[in-house]
Amino acid sequence: MDALQDRFKSQKLSTSPVKVTKICCIGAGYVGGPTCAVIALKCPHIQVTIVDLNEARVDAWNSEDFKLPIYEPGLEEVVRKARGRNLFFSTDVDKGIQDADLIFVSVNTPTKKSGVGAGFAADLNYVELATRRIAAVANSSKIVVEKSTVPCRTAESMRTILEANSKPGCHFDILSNPEFLAEGTAISDLFAPDRVLIGSLQTPEGIAACVALKDVYKNWVPAEKVLTVGLWSSELSKLAANAMLAQRISSINALSAICEATGANIDEVAHAVGKDTRVGPKFLKASVGFGGSCFQKDILNLVYLSESLHLPEVAAYWRQVVEMNEYQKRRFAKTVVDTLFNTITGKRIAVLGFAFKADTGDTRESAAISLIRDFQDERALVNVYDPQVPHDQIWLDLQEASPRLPIEQIKKQVTICPSALEACRNAEAVVIATEWAEFREIDWEAVYKNMNKPAFVFDGRLLVDAEKLRKIGFKVTSIGRGERL
Ligand code: UDX
Ligand code: ADP
Repeated sequence: MDALQDRFKSQKLSTSPVKVTKICCIGAGYVGGPTCAVIALKCPHIQVTIVDLNEARVDAWNSEDFKLPIYEPGLEEVVRKARGRNLFFSTDVDKGIQDADLIFVSVNTPTKKSGVGAGFAADLNYVELATRRIAAVANSSKIVVEKSTVPCRTAESMRTILEANSKPGCHFDILSNPEFLAEGTAISDLFAPDRVLIGSLQTPEGIAACVALKDVYKNWVPAEKVLTVGLWSSELSKLAANAMLAQRISSINALSAICEATGANIDEVAHAVGKDTRVGPKFLKASVGFGGSCFQKDILNLVYLSESLHLPEVAAYWRQVVEMNEYQKRRFAKTVVDTLFNTITGKRIAVLGFAFKADTGDTRESAAISLIRDFQDERALVNVYDPQVPHDQIWLDLQEASPRLPIEQIKKQVTICPSALEACRNAEAVVIATEWAEFREIDWEAVYKNMNKPAFVFDGRLLVDAEKLRKIGFKVTSIGRGERL
């Protein structure tokens, strides 16, 4: 018996924890899809329905040949085992809501592009619409779980909306259960999480709802790894975890600039620092800059929150983590221009990788987007290759990065190539933007033969063996390495 259940019993509560038998997840994206597919796999006695308004996305989840809408190692196997058994994907949001005892809200929460807090605050429009839909169609009590990363106190807003709009006899308990999975390792992160965090109101009903969700996770997660806390602590912990991880990367990237100026080697520095058990070795890999849907968004959220709380020094501290990341991306692009004799106008640059990290097809906030935009501004020709990102997504991202350029102009400057080898043909320089393992194993001799000379490699991910490439004839520049060329 764990402490939560002890507390539950000792309070002799009138409310019993619901035995969850039907789960609905609103939002079949990078978070909702893998998370609820794993819940279905691990809990065959629970029916899990993932609903989404986007019909094409739902069709892809249901596709006969398992061409799923997101690329994630191990995901297909999970979906193959559970789909049709107790895992279902549907566009019937209302039915999904009505049938469920517990609803995860896993919709997108991008940074606001206009209005109050533009550029910083999260756009909660999708969360609000999903919450209003729950209130409008639910005809029995539900546990509503906030899964999307949201600013602190969103659960409170959800509760207010639900209470103001619910039908008689319907009661809603709100939980916060942030997801800590990282893309590319989502399935292993979900199978063996470092922790599962559940935040609830500390009322009898709140604790009962918390026990119900904990019971779901206990099907495969050891009880001691399920942390139960207050709602606000849970919401803030998610922002804090991402901010601190991003802060490590910005710290190591700041040091990489010092290494380049002094001749030190950032990998050696990171290794030496990481050996201190208080620091630890993870998340100290210097790079061209962090990307992904969470880090920047969550830090900007934290900045916005700090400013709203009249804590300008706290806001400035966290803002600097994002500014350092922007600096790192700009600095890398500038190194390419400087090294290519101060001009890349009309020169062909091969950009290897477009996703924000390896083993995902996700491009949100990818460093490759800023790099290519900077190269375009310098009037270079860019060849790009990524093994997973759909071509349409690349055009969409490049258009968004240069809104004033017509797409025809962008397509004149940028070519999407079918392989790394093709991308490098006739190029002056190769820029490694994503750490796909296949870039380490390319036939670099063949790449060299097909390139204009001198042939440059700029390694933004410390991926390739620089010495080996230099022996072939390349002039190599790596992030955080003093010795150039
Ligand atoms: C992150 C958090 O890790 C996860 O817990 C949270 O739920 C969502 O946000 P994700 O963005 O999917 O996950 O990937 P992550 O592995 O954290 O990488 C983020 C970015 O940092 C990537 O661009 C990656 O390449 C970069 N990175 C990571 C580095 O540059 N150096 C490192 O040492 C680690
Ligand atoms: P994340 O990375 O947070 O999972 P995604 O953008 O990948 O974000 O996925 C969010 C999904 O939520 C999208 O597929 C979107 O269509 C879906 N969605 C947004 N609002 C609603 C809603 N009100 N009802 C159902 N689905 C929604």
